[in-house]
Amino acid sequence: MTGLSGAAKLAGVMGWPVSHSRSPRLQGHWLARYDIDGAYLPLPVNPGDFETVFRALPKMGFSGVNVTIPHKEAALLLADEADDLARRIAAANTIIFREDGSSLATNTDGFGFLMNLQDQVSDWKADAPAVVLGAGGAARAIIVALIDRGVPEIRLLNRTKARAEAIAGELGSPVHVLDWTEREAVLSDAGLLVNTTSLGMKDNPPLEIRLDDLSPQATVADIIYAPVETDLLISAKARGSRVVTGPGMLLHQAVPGFEAWFGRRPVVDDALRQAVFPEIYGAP
Ligand code: ATR
Repeated sequence: MTGLSGAAKLAGVMGWPVSHSRSPRLQGHWLARYDIDGAYLPLPVNPGDFETVFRALPKMGFSGVNVTIPHKEAALLLADEADDLARRIAAANTIIFREDGSSLATNTDGFGFLMNLQDQVSDWKADAPAVVLGAGGAARAIIVALIDRGVPEIRLLNRTKARAEAIAGELGSPVHVLDWTEREAVLSDAGLLVNTTSLGMKDNPPLEIRLDDLSPQATVADIIYAPVETDLLISAKARGSRVVTGPGMLLHQAVPGFEAWFGRRPVVDDALRQAVFPEIYGAP
């Protein structure tokens, strides 16, 4: 497609700020690759203007949008309908505008996490307890995905225990809250350890955790992607555990939105990885 027609399909990402978002490059790669008459735009929207813009977009022909920080909760509240995932995660990241102008909110972050996990470690142990560190929005999406995948027990540890307790209260019995100080003691029979905190991210403090008790059969995942190999993943690898890096979660969470707006299920492959994360996977 060398230029858009008057019937081009429109989508975008609403955030504040949005300039750091990789989503335009990601969705743009697929649009070009599948030769689709469509556009995906960065939409910088101040929180004070969010409702006005959200309501205007379907009237301007938009098929839908992604919403990112700080709009994920507001989008859930404003949408005419929300699916079970968005309601349980208590946030939306993907909005579909229907022909009649009504909006449907969903959340694909947990799906993105699970597909990325599956992609990198296809035989991770889903029948053993999982340990999740952190209790922010990403943790909530990941916990919902793990519950739906049938993980029997999720041990949730967060510096601020009350945030973990709030998640457990909403998501039910598979979630067990433990003290942040117990993060090493809970590892011995775990099949999966996931870091959803910001510890270990560039310019942040490190995540302090000794993996001595972790079984080599366990898989260790970090959702951080700068750096791509966090200290957690480096030490897990050194012990013989399999590891899951963060960038793929972003790539996979984008699949359902693209399919809903542009009508084709896209593929996550090396060409996409290189286009979206050239600093990690090399320029295309
Ligand atoms: P998101 O919603 O994107 O997942 P967030 O709400 O900012 O992000 O959450 C970041 C996570 O990192 C939280 O679990 C936070 O713990 P608190 O709930 O106690 O704030 C965790 N985190 C950040 N800095 C931390 C630190 N120095 N020690 C332990 N946990 C930390």
